[in-house]
Amino acid sequence: MIDDKVAQLIAGEEKRQREGLELIPSENYVSRPVLDALGSVFTNKYSEGYPGRRYYGGQEFTDQVETLAIERAKQLFKADHANVQPHSGAPANEAVYSAWLEPGDTVLAMDLGHGGHLTHGAPVTRSAKLYNFIRYKMKDPTTGEIDYDELRELALKHKPKIILAGFSAYPRELDYGKFAAIGQEIEGCLLMADMAHIAGLIAGGVARNPFDDGFHVITSTTHKTLRGPRGGLILSRGTVGNPLKAPEKTLENIPTLIDRAVFPGMQGGPHEHVIAAKAVAFGEALQPEFKDYAAQIVKNAAALADAMLTRGFTLVTGGTSNHLILADVHASFGLDGKVVEEALDKIGLTLNKNAVANDTLPPYRPSGIRLGTPAITTRGLKEEHMEQIAEWMKQAIDARDDEAKLAALHADVVTFALQFPLPSDI
Ligand SMILES: Cc1ncc(COP(=O)(O)O)c(C=O)c1O
Repeated sequence: MIDDKVAQLIAGEEKRQREGLELIPSENYVSRPVLDALGSVFTNKYSEGYPGRRYYGGQEFTDQVETLAIERAKQLFKADHANVQPHSGAPANEAVYSAWLEPGDTVLAMDLGHGGHLTHGAPVTRSAKLYNFIRYKMKDPTTGEIDYDELRELALKHKPKIILAGFSAYPRELDYGKFAAIGQEIEGCLLMADMAHIAGLIAGGVARNPFDDGFHVITSTTHKTLRGPRGGLILSRGTVGNPLKAPEKTLENIPTLIDRAVFPGMQGGPHEHVIAAKAVAFGEALQPEFKDYAAQIVKNAAALADAMLTRGFTLVTGGTSNHLILADVHASFGLDGKVVEEALDKIGLTLNKNAVANDTLPPYRPSGIRLGTPAITTRGLKEEHMEQIAEWMKQAIDARDDEAKLAALHADVVTFALQFPLPSDI
């Protein structure tokens, strides 16, 4: 029997998820098998080390479940090696930095204000204190094109040890071939992609796999478009060696350097219940239906972007080519993102305020909102439903000070959302 207080909170959260529409582009709804694996007895087990090389006994099943997760991840993303132990996306990135860099080394990464992630060198992070981050940007936020000329100039000038491609608020595809060509001009430069947001799109074949363009390492979360448990993943190209022996720092040895950086470098015992759930999610992503799911995410995002444009929203880069949309609500309606986030929360549409490129407003009240379609696509929404969502958004923004109107809109959203069960309810 579960703790009453916690049971009440779980029930409350389930109701919130069931009755609302989740538009945060980094969230999703996992399947019942993923939830079951997460809640399994693997949570009881210590298994420091790697399959076949553990520091505790009793590893018959943990070794098998971790090996299964590794093999499925490798198959899904065409990798030579997978480390499925990082507890989340941030430690996955830190592990790669510590595997390849010495303190003071330079990393060339996307500017946070132009779509990069905190872990890509935001001054508040530990990595930014240890390493020297240089930032590249979009050439023009109305088209979204990265300034590849500037990127090359920065690379030749600063000779980064890592060039990092990846984002958490960029609605277009990166040209990994151009990144790779620049990286190949710099001796000893590791090409790293952080696909935390788009892993599901890559797995589903609707976004390019950076390995196909010569990248050495890909980091990811497993809980966004990939629709697995909250966790991290590091994939690499190279030769897999014995993680008990420190290898020479070469690109070929990257898999072993990464294994050693994760454990014992940063983490203790892996969370085998989460790894079991990762194995389930990777298995689901290997099914043909996952390709349809990924394609539908992108179709829904394009339809939602169009429906927002016709209602006066200004979209950064003019639209989207992936699962996410960044709208400049300050340019559109003279409002800040916090006001809009709160108005939409009141009607059951959940998204987040977000800075836009060269934002003139402060981070806590930025000019933008960020939204996306991975979660609503999991619930079965299609292009024809996107007009309705955009219409509710505009109506809630217009009625932001009218509590009665917001309550009426909320009732409509609940009635609509209940037609689409959560996957864990099915
Ligand atoms: C691109 C990118 N990398 C890393 C992370 C960090 O992941 P986590 O929050 O799981 O640590 C995120 C999360 O938003 C992300 O978007």
